[in-house]
Amino acid sequence: MMNTIHSYWAYLALTILLLALINAIVGYASKRDFKAKDLRLSLFALITSHIQLLIGLGVYFSSPMYQSLKASGMNATNRMLAVEHPIMMILAIVLITIGWSKHKKQTTDTGKFKTIAIFYGLALILILSRIPWSQWCDI
Ligand code: HEM
Repeated sequence: MMNTIHSYWAYLALTILLLALINAIVGYASKRDFKAKDLRLSLFALITSHIQLLIGLGVYFSSPMYQSLKASGMNATNRMLAVEHPIMMILAIVLITIGWSKHKKQTTDTGKFKTIAIFYGLALILILSRIPWSQWCDI
């Protein structure tokens, strides 16, 4: 159950993060004003990724991965699910959180877009690098 929610919520979290990133890059490049809709989109990306973190923690402590770890030890698949994926995702969400709080301290609209673009962009790279793609695409 938790696993299924984690799997589907990932689509939402990734889509909104990608939209917030594209919006920030376009806003920065066009030097337009940082409006309420820009704030809302960046905030949605922060919220959906935090929810994914909470679901991920639930998945982590109830995952069948433990049986697999017991049975076959620390192989590449188990290392990905038990260590690499969680650590990288937590790091990515920390970056999103830092980006969100730093953008609020920026005094210019370009500065706000730039901060969101850098931190959300780095977070997206980390997330994409450590998603268990073969497992995800298997459902
Ligand atoms: C933005 C954050 C995250 C994204 C986008 C994400 C995405 C995913 C995806 C797509 C899968 C594959 C699901 C499937 O098999 O259908 C997965 C599996 C998993 N995730 Fe995450 N995840 C995130 C954060 C986390 C965190 C923070 C943890 C733990 C602290 C975590 C723990 C796990 C575990 C243990 C699995 C394997 C579940 C299993 O097959 O037993 N995830 N994640």
